[in-house]
Amino acid sequence: MPVRPVLRLGHPALSQPAKAVAEFNTPQLYALIQDMLDTMAAENGVGLAAPQIGEPLRLVVFGMQDNPRYPDREPVPATVLINPRITPIGDEQEGDWEGCLSLPELRGWVPRHRYITYTGFDAEGRPMEREASGFHARVVQHEVDHLDGILFPQRMPDMRRFGYQQELAATVDNGTESY
Ligand code: NI
Repeated sequence: MPVRPVLRLGHPALSQPAKAVAEFNTPQLYALIQDMLDTMAAENGVGLAAPQIGEPLRLVVFGMQDNPRYPDREPVPATVLINPRITPIGDEQEGDWEGCLSLPELRGWVPRHRYITYTGFDAEGRPMEREASGFHARVVQHEVDHLDGILFPQRMPDMRRFGYQQELAATVDNGTESY
């Protein structure tokens, strides 16, 4: 199963809106999903959007097991999510450091909705609907932004809180994931 190159900030494909997946349950769709899962695993990411490997489709994968280093962090179920929609629940936002596989070594402080509902479809075309909060909600918002051609720096209110992880080491947790 091929690990695909992840496009980086500046590649025009990362700023294009992606198209809805029209056909489910096809060999082509499963092959693309497998490439995405393999690429995410190879990069130690917790999420990946199809446009990050040059496929302009509304398809994301994500997931993270419970991490004993972050007992307070919401686990993120292993998920294939197609044609997603996000609805915020309430107005509450919270900020946290984010990383992105398309911006290697960079980190930024990004506010996101704390509580959301998201809907979409799995690879077989079965609808799903979930509520999410905290880190799980953050990962979904970050990935769905990729489908609209938005990268996390575009969500940052204060560019002074953007930089290389090594330089920010005093303030950014080393374990900040990329997705
Ligand atoms: Ni990303």
